[in-house]
Amino acid sequence: MTGVPLFDFGRQYKALKRELDTAFFRVMRSGQFILGPEVEAFEKEFASWTGARFGIGVASGTDALELALRALGIGPGDAVLTVSFTFLATASAIRKVGAKPVFVDVDPRTCTMDLRHLTEVLKRMPAPQAKRIKAILPVHLYGHPCDMPAIGRLARKKGWKIVEDCAQAHGAAWNGKRVGTFGDLGCFSFYPTKNLGGCGDGGMVVTSSPALARRLKILRFQGRPDKERQVLDGLNSRLDELQAALLRVKLTRLNGWLAARRRLASCYTRLLRDLPLTLPAETARARHVYHLYVVQSPMRDLLRKALLRQGIPSAIHYPFPVHRQSFYRENAGPLKLPVTERLARQVLSLPLFPEMKPSELKRVAAAVRAFYRFKPKPL
Ligand SMILES: Cc1ncc(COP(=O)(O)O)c(C=O)c1O
Repeated sequence: MTGVPLFDFGRQYKALKRELDTAFFRVMRSGQFILGPEVEAFEKEFASWTGARFGIGVASGTDALELALRALGIGPGDAVLTVSFTFLATASAIRKVGAKPVFVDVDPRTCTMDLRHLTEVLKRMPAPQAKRIKAILPVHLYGHPCDMPAIGRLARKKGWKIVEDCAQAHGAAWNGKRVGTFGDLGCFSFYPTKNLGGCGDGGMVVTSSPALARRLKILRFQGRPDKERQVLDGLNSRLDELQAALLRVKLTRLNGWLAARRRLASCYTRLLRDLPLTLPAETARARHVYHLYVVQSPMRDLLRKALLRQGIPSAIHYPFPVHRQSFYRENAGPLKLPVTERLARQVLSLPLFPEMKPSELKRVAAAVRAFYRFKPKPL
């Protein structure tokens, strides 16, 4: 029995070997590894691909979030609205700048911020606490965009800043406009498994504000506008030349990879539609880019074991909601996030990557069907 990998870096490297090797040796020969021409070019290319004016390359998606909040002046005494159903870096960036995350539940279909629940949270919040909210940090989870026009309207009314967590959503769009360009700042990760992934850590903040772009360049460089002076409390957080050179090659393939992800996701949906599973939804104006294909089942753990017995690994994004982590214990008591709690028990990510073969996808779908004792469906 042959298994199906959850992700296969080897296939991607094989397809791009010549170009990646050329980029690698170009940087090695140049001897310039920090803040050089590759980073500058990649910042321009990636920002323009998203539709933003500026890109600031940083060391990771986690740093992108922290630096974005610092650039907006969010700090101690402030509160930031976000979700608990996310990777913990979203909330830890808020904590790291000294602010407090206020968690909102998610929509059970898209797994992104539920704006009705947000209204409830605001209604119940004592006025002095509500006044401390300075920003909203929505997460385009799994590659499904949040309803950014609605979030934008609310934020304008309340005077909040918007930072988008786009770590899982390169190329996701709402009404054709790409994520990262709705808020004040958009934060991306280039962690290797991401839709655009490097060969190590990396991240970028995109913005169309020249002032914020300037501030971010200072913040990622220890708060220094030049080698002599320090004017802000910054980090040492730069995308390096090697990563930038490799990511420039991969960016030229990104549109094709996203199309492949969408094709594979629609195959899964076609093959699994009649099962007692909740499949990923794509709302009317959204373009989902399927960083992950996530199904929901009350029998998730049994299904996962059954797949593994067939040589099919799967993953759980995420088994513990952020507000259940020990750091947030003080927040956990009165918090009611029933959808978040349920999703943490029921979500399962099936293998999906652009180079996945239709025969592999068929094998995964057949194994899921076998678990439910449904006969395999022809592809
Ligand atoms: C939603 C989300 N936010 C932030 C991050 C942090 O990105 P990085 O791993 O590049 O620090 C990730 C990475 O997994 C993520 O999935």
